[in-house]
Amino acid sequence: MTSTPFLHARFKSKGKLYLGNILDGNTLHDTSITNVLKSEFGSITAEYSWKWNRIQPKEGEFHFEGADAVFDWAVANKKLIRGHTLIWHQNIPEWVNAITDKTKLTEVIQEHIRQVAGRYKGHVYAWDVVNEPFEEDGHFRNSVFWRVLKEDFFDIAFRAAREADPDAKLYLNEYNLDYAGPKIDALLALVGRLQKRGVPIDGIGSQAHLTLGKAEGVPAQLLRLAATGLDIALTELDIRIPRPVTEAKLMQQQAEYELVVKACVDIPNCMGITLWGVSDRNSWVNATLPQFESPLLWDKDYKRKAAYRGLEALLA
Ligand code: XIL
Repeated sequence: MTSTPFLHARFKSKGKLYLGNILDGNTLHDTSITNVLKSEFGSITAEYSWKWNRIQPKEGEFHFEGADAVFDWAVANKKLIRGHTLIWHQNIPEWVNAITDKTKLTEVIQEHIRQVAGRYKGHVYAWDVVNEPFEEDGHFRNSVFWRVLKEDFFDIAFRAAREADPDAKLYLNEYNLDYAGPKIDALLALVGRLQKRGVPIDGIGSQAHLTLGKAEGVPAQLLRLAATGLDIALTELDIRIPRPVTEAKLMQQQAEYELVVKACVDIPNCMGITLWGVSDRNSWVNATLPQFESPLLWDKDYKRKAAYRGLEALLA
């Protein structure tokens, strides 16, 4: 028998549902990572293999090998599963981007969601149904979904997800909800409209990809999300450090992790937190935001960092 994952158990003792992390083909066979997932975390999200271009690169051709590998690992290791993501402007194949007809795009969205959410029906705790629909200035992002369907794409996607997997919690997921401004205002206004027209939305995910020094707004903004009455979660937490990394910055990172995790602990309808990676060695930040590094709780040699010790103590 495996024992209850350590940090996850501590987080649960504060009344939360899960402390999770990501897994995918790059880490699935790396025991330095999977051992940490087994012993510390209670939930799994696929980092990339549940995204549209991996699953349905050509219309009507569904490939579930990569997605199933993550799913099977999570089930075998008794992890809760967060599904990420059904509708996103990134990682979609060109054939989707090229659609201009409303009826066609509606059917394509419905079929994709029916296949993907339907496949794991009853096993996924929550789905990020729509990911990153807003620009920083609060306008809707100019994605194919917005161009062709305007705000209806939310209704279509959430309704299709509810139908495909009635027990899954359905989330709207977004980044840079960590400070006041037009983006979070626009998101809250949208949520109000969705609720008013009876669209089946259960939760708001705040990705929380943070830059060191920018965490202080998180508690207040999380409270605003929570005031909708929906479930909320931190879905992709990491805190990246501008190069070069110093002892002082690592201490500051510890304090900011504590602040953010405590913010979720203090809000009853903050259900859980997913960290976007285990080791600094594998973080998406390394390739995508190369001016930054060291965003996670374990360093490149899989050693626990100050931030890990901080959370261990905070949740004791
Ligand atoms: C990133 C993954 O970490 C990368 O491996 C992948 O190539 C691209 O996507 N916001 C999201 C996540 O919602 O899906 C992104 O994950 C990071 C930003």
